[in-house]
Amino acid sequence: MMLFEDPPQNLALAPGAMLLGRFAETADRALLAALARVVAASPIRRMNTPNGGQMSVGMTNCGAAGWVSDRTGYRYDRLDPETGRPWPAMPPGFADLATRAATAAGFAGFVPDACLINRYTAQTRLSLHQDHNERDLAAPIVSVSLGLPAVFVWGGPRRADRPRRVRLVHGDVVVWGGPARMTFHGIDPLREGDHALTGPVRYNLTFRRAL
Ligand code: SIN
Ligand code: FE2
Repeated sequence: MMLFEDPPQNLALAPGAMLLGRFAETADRALLAALARVVAASPIRRMNTPNGGQMSVGMTNCGAAGWVSDRTGYRYDRLDPETGRPWPAMPPGFADLATRAATAAGFAGFVPDACLINRYTAQTRLSLHQDHNERDLAAPIVSVSLGLPAVFVWGGPRRADRPRRVRLVHGDVVVWGGPARMTFHGIDPLREGDHALTGPVRYNLTFRRAL
């Protein structure tokens, strides 16, 4: 029997990219409660893709702008196309965590205006991509993992760069910016599981400076 969990560890993924081990763990219940309020106002949905498919990850947003995919392409939109209303405001606890994590990773002064919420269940995956719809590429990306563990695929600046795979657990935060800002990344198909706080689900909160 394990009496003590391993202490949280940070991992430098590349210049400008850092995994902050379990950085968000102490805020987990507050983050999930705020997430539930966001989802009550703008439900999680599977968005359509420009090529006629559908994303396997369920998504919603909060903040001044939300990331949207549909048949016409990808963009940030101030309105939730599903409700016709603005996205729910960014909960103060979300923005605070993102700013603290960015600072810990060397990006002081990060104030996110968009938070994409991803919901993964067993077999859900996110294929290799760059985050490039944001106007301000000087700001980093802050990515918070809650619930079931996942395998993060961390590539390079080119799609063909051989990726490394890093396990992300509940509370982990990955920050990438500066020379790492355009790194290709993704999530391998999620393994089935049961997490004490989220059940069969992994949530990811991705904070950006989008507008
Ligand atoms: C993303 O790239 O938008 C999400 C990554 C993750 O789920 O950890
Ligand atoms: Fe991404």
